Amino acid sequence: MRSNAIPAEFEDLLNASGRRVLAGSHALCSALANPRTRFLARTDLLDRAKAERVRRALEQSLADELELMERPIPPESISKMRHDYGELLPKTSRAHTIYFESRRERGVKAAERIGLARMMRSASFRAFAEALAGRPLAANWGLQVLRYGAGDYAGPHNDHHPENKDARSGYIDLHVSLCAPDVAHQWLVYSRAGHFSEVVSVAPPATVTAYRLPFWHYTTPLVTKRGKDAARWVLLGSFLYA
Ligand SMILES: [Fe+2]
Repeated sequence: MRSNAIPAEFEDLLNASGRRVLAGSHALCSALANPRTRFLARTDLLDRAKAERVRRALEQSLADELELMERPIPPESISKMRHDYGELLPKTSRAHTIYFESRRERGVKAAERIGLARMMRSASFRAFAEALAGRPLAANWGLQVLRYGAGDYAGPHNDHHPENKDARSGYIDLHVSLCAPDVAHQWLVYSRAGHFSEVVSVAPPATVTAYRLPFWHYTTPLVTKRGKDAARWVLLGSFLYA
């Protein structure tokens, strides 16, 4: 059943400040067009109460429909190593997810049923990404839903796609992060000038993050408050340049 907690347009999840981004009158507009800005995280753009209602709807209607995505550390990364300090680590991660490649997938059907897909495909979702990017974005975009439970993480990776001619020169990711109150912490660490020197919390209840990819980053394991089970949801759009 369609959840009336999930608005048809992403715009309806925004607070007054978030709407100013859409209207083009917020200082954040075109922030990612600044050559020095690859990443931004803001906790002041979403309507808290509405975001919390969406998070609850996802927990209630979607948590059981997700697929486990697990890419552990390959044992060969140690056993086949031949040179001191020669370690190479592919992208490791663990979370539950919905990939939107196939509309026949169970999770996609569930996301459509509750109206989540509609919101993530809404014109204002793209318009918001475009406002932050400061340049036109393609009419079609990729979607993914992630749910980080206790201990879930994403190891260092850069989201570069050199094999994809449309993405190889870079693209924009927009993430809406909805975090349960019983999450103690989870951090997004990213690189600047060649070092993993930057860190932001992604544990606030309603955060918008935007990425001008590729660049190196990772997400630390989600830690819950003692004895609690809790999760963080990420609604993710990947936007090619028009
Ligand atoms: Fe990433």
